[in-house]
This record gives sequence, C-alpha cells and structure tokens, in this order.
Amino acid sequence: GAIHHYDFVLKETNFTRLCSTKSILTVNGSLPGPTITVQKGDTAFVNVHNQGLYGLTIHWHGVKQPRNPWSDGPENVTQCPIPAGTNFTYEVIFSSEEGTLWWHAHSDWTRATVYGAIVILPALNTTYPFATPDAQETLILGSWFKGDVMELIEYALASGGDPNISDAFVINGQPGDLYDCSNETTYRWLVDYGKTYLLRVINAVMNEEQFFAIANHTLTVVAQDAAYIKPITTSYIMITPGQTMDILVTANQPPSHYYIASKAYVDGTVAFNNSTTTAIVQYNGNYSAPSTTPFPTLPDYDNETAADNFTSQIRALASKEHPISVPLEIHSKIIISIAINERICPNSSCSGPDGNALSASLKTSVSSSPLLTYCKHTMGPIWGNNNGVYRTSFPNKPPYTFNFTGDVGNNTIYPSFGTRVRMIKYGEGVEIVFQGTNIIAPENHPMHLHGYSFYVVGTGSGNFNSTTSPKTYNLVDPPEVNTIGVPKNGWAAIRFVADNPGVWFMHCHLERHSSWGMDTVLIVRNGNTTESKIRSPPAYMPPCSKS
Ligand code: C2O
Ligand code: CU
Repeated sequence: GAIHHYDFVLKETNFTRLCSTKSILTVNGSLPGPTITVQKGDTAFVNVHNQGLYGLTIHWHGVKQPRNPWSDGPENVTQCPIPAGTNFTYEVIFSSEEGTLWWHAHSDWTRATVYGAIVILPALNTTYPFATPDAQETLILGSWFKGDVMELIEYALASGGDPNISDAFVINGQPGDLYDCSNETTYRWLVDYGKTYLLRVINAVMNEEQFFAIANHTLTVVAQDAAYIKPITTSYIMITPGQTMDILVTANQPPSHYYIASKAYVDGTVAFNNSTTTAIVQYNGNYSAPSTTPFPTLPDYDNETAADNFTSQIRALASKEHPISVPLEIHSKIIISIAINERICPNSSCSGPDGNALSASLKTSVSSSPLLTYCKHTMGPIWGNNNGVYRTSFPNKPPYTFNFTGDVGNNTIYPSFGTRVRMIKYGEGVEIVFQGTNIIAPENHPMHLHGYSFYVVGTGSGNFNSTTSPKTYNLVDPPEVNTIGVPKNGWAAIRFVADNPGVWFMHCHLERHSSWGMDTVLIVRNGNTTESKIRSPPAYMPPCSKS
C-alpha cells in the first residue's frame, strides 16, 4: 500500500458557539480536525505536535494496527501522554478495514474537541460492493460543552457525581438552527439533483447514542465500522458513540432545503442533553428557498423499539469478496457484567446517590482512575508486567445464576477496586458475553475493543443463559464491528480470533462511564512466528516521567 504523511498540530484555539467564545484544543485549528484519506492496505504516518497545555494521546478508532499496539494511543495503557511542547509520530497501519473510521484524543476528556474522520477507500483495482457513488460527504456528530471539558471531568470525579451534560450536540462542529446564536453557521451539505452520495456518519458524541435522519430522503446503510453490511433501507438510524455508518443517499427530491437532524437515544432515568442538532441538505441550482424547511421524523428519545428495529436488521454482507471469518471453535469464553456502581466518597461530601460517589465496573473490578493506574514505563514493561501495574486476574465467570437484570441487592453496589486484565493466547477463538445489569441505572453501554473488530453473534434482553442463548446465535452473517451497543438490561455476545498480539484497551465509549472505571485490557500474547509477535517499539516513545 501507499504511504501517507500528516502533521497534526494541537493547539488552543478560540471558537464561538452558543453565543460565547472559549478556547478549545484543536488539531490544525479546525473542528472537526483534518480527515485522513487512504486506500485499504495503506499506511499513514501522523506526526502529532503537541502545542497545547497538557500531555495527550491520539487513538485511531477501529484501525486494528496489526502487531503495532505502540501506535494505538490510549493514555497510560499503551503509551504515556505526549508531553506539551513535544511531538510523536504514530504509524497507522490499515489492513482489512474499508469504509469509515475516525480518530480522537484518548486522554481525559480531550476527545470532546479533538476528533476527525478516517476515510478508507477500496484498494487499487477494487470497487465498492455497490454502484460507485457520484460523490461523498462526511457528517460527524459531536458534543459541545460551554465549560472546560478537562475541568468538568476532574470536578465530576472529585465530587463523585455525574459530569454536567453537554450544552449542545453538533454536526461537523456546528450546533445548528435550533440553538441560540447558531443559525448563521448551520452546516450545509450542498448536493446536485440526481446524484447519489456516499454519506459517512460518525458518532463522536461524548455520552449519548443518537437517532439520525434526513427529511424526505431515504437512507440505504451499506457499511458499519468499516465493514460492509447487507443494504438496509430506512428513514432513520440509531448510532452509538464510537460507531460509524456508511449510507447511500440519492438527491432525488424537488430541489430545495431539507433538515438533517440528530438527537439522543437514552434511557429516560439518566440526565442527558435533550436537544436536537440540525444541518441542512441544500440542493444546488436556481430556486427560491422554502419558507419552511422540511424536518425529519425522529423516534422519541427513549423509544427502545425503534432502536432495536433498526439494529436488529444489521447483517454482514458476507459475500465472496467480503467474506466473514467468525470462529466456530472457542477457547476463551469470558462473561463480563457491566454495571454502574457506587464507591465510598473520597472526601467529605459527594453528589452521587446516598452521598456516595458514582463509579462503574466491568465484572468485579473497578477503578475510579485510569485502568492501568499509572504507567510508569511504556508498553514494554506493561507487556511483561515487570512493574506490577496490573494483575492478570480479571475474573473469568460470574455466577450464571445471578439475576443481573432483576432487582439487585445492595451487595452488588460496591465493586472492588483494581486494575485487572485478561491474558489470551495467540490464535485462540474468543467469545465475550457482555451482560448488562440493573444496578443503580440500567443503561445501554457501547463497548469498544481496540486492536480488533469482532462479530456480534447474538444479543438479547434479560439475563444471558449459557444453554439457551447460544442457540440463537447468528454464525452465518453476524455484523463485524469495533463497538457494540449492549442493550439496556440485556446482553450481547461477540466473537473473534485473537490474531493480533498486543495490549488492547476495552471500555465503554460513554466517556463518563469510562472515566468511572468501565474499562479493562485484553493482552494477547505473542505467537511462535515472527508474524505472530508484536513489532519492536519505535525508537522514540513519549517518556513516562511522572510517578
Ligand atoms: Cu474510540 Cu478507546 O476509543
Ligand atoms: Cu457505559
């Protein structure tokens, strides 16, 4: 594949949104940041120049980075932050992905403003599994906070409560017509009548799944998380934070203006930003602007049926050119319960339930601070665990008889604190069942795994049943994704072959849950051949000087 070079200059830049101006961290002065465009099989060297105020890292969300966790990015998991005033070059290796992915900062809450699209075109001499679109467009859904996002999360962790909800959702950095002081800058997507577009939608929102639709236009979803699916024709989509969807849209309506709208899909019991962000599809040509711009119909914010109706249709394309390789033989079976929890208030008063602090857990381990409590050294020592930063005792199997989604008792509210990871042998077939719980608040959790994409072989409501649930698995055309929205009070089963050695972060992509401890790491050991071992680290890794 071809080699590409990018320079990302991170610096504080003044932006005006919602009637006020503040300084935010940006890449090359823009929001969203620059798009990385490659063909399948290419490599991109991205030199990140940190001219900001604090250390940070960048992650290439959904890029598997074969044998190259050194450039994966999660702070204190595979690298220490790039100190302010220095630079670090990531080597982003594209292998089997084709479609849309994205990149974002992966330290504290910096991803609120530091994100951008990754477009992976078909390799040379290959084509899309559908008629080549006339043109392309990218819409990134995001969150805007009037406050400083770094202070926001620090305050939330210290006070033990929920961080403030965002002040707006944005599309390509713009809140849109429904917000104050925003209608001059609403994002406009200019189209030509009769053309078919490949629309790439990315959910970079910090804390909420989204319903998304375009007035009067049919959406044909053709890919998810850079893997092709059987086309789905729909009037709306539900997209979870971390996910990407490729959608064919034909500009076949009378030339005019039409609203694009996106709003939260959440369980009604949690506080959320109950607002709608808009952009406009504007046809080129001579016509008078409509007096009222048609608005799309979106499901109600808590319409679980609408969300399920959409997601349950998603199937891998599973064609000759785009085959699936779901493992049928499983060596590592892991069941992980996902819960919102409480922890003892770290200071005298906390704003969480019962005066406690909020936390979150995967299985029985929880941390209120980053998972690998602090990486004193870079990944070499983490890889070998020479410094005892974690234990490899991530519990394997909670009691299957436990009623996770029932009325759970107090004994489950306090998880134990710890940094526990799971070791996996190279080449194993792995199955992970994510089990949602009803502890404190039943919520949807978008679980994301680095270093892999995986097949979603089953989902269901209530408790996973180890006898009957596997009988419902789809092993023929399960969707291949890097992020799965685990249904509220339900479960999701995923499978993959552990063919990528390295240290791979796994976490909820709702930023507040990840901050509360909904994180772990899978360490896939080296195999026996050179091709099954991690590459040597680059000559320079950011130093881990802090103790
Ligand atoms: Cu999109 Cu660990 O991240
Ligand atoms: Cu979550």
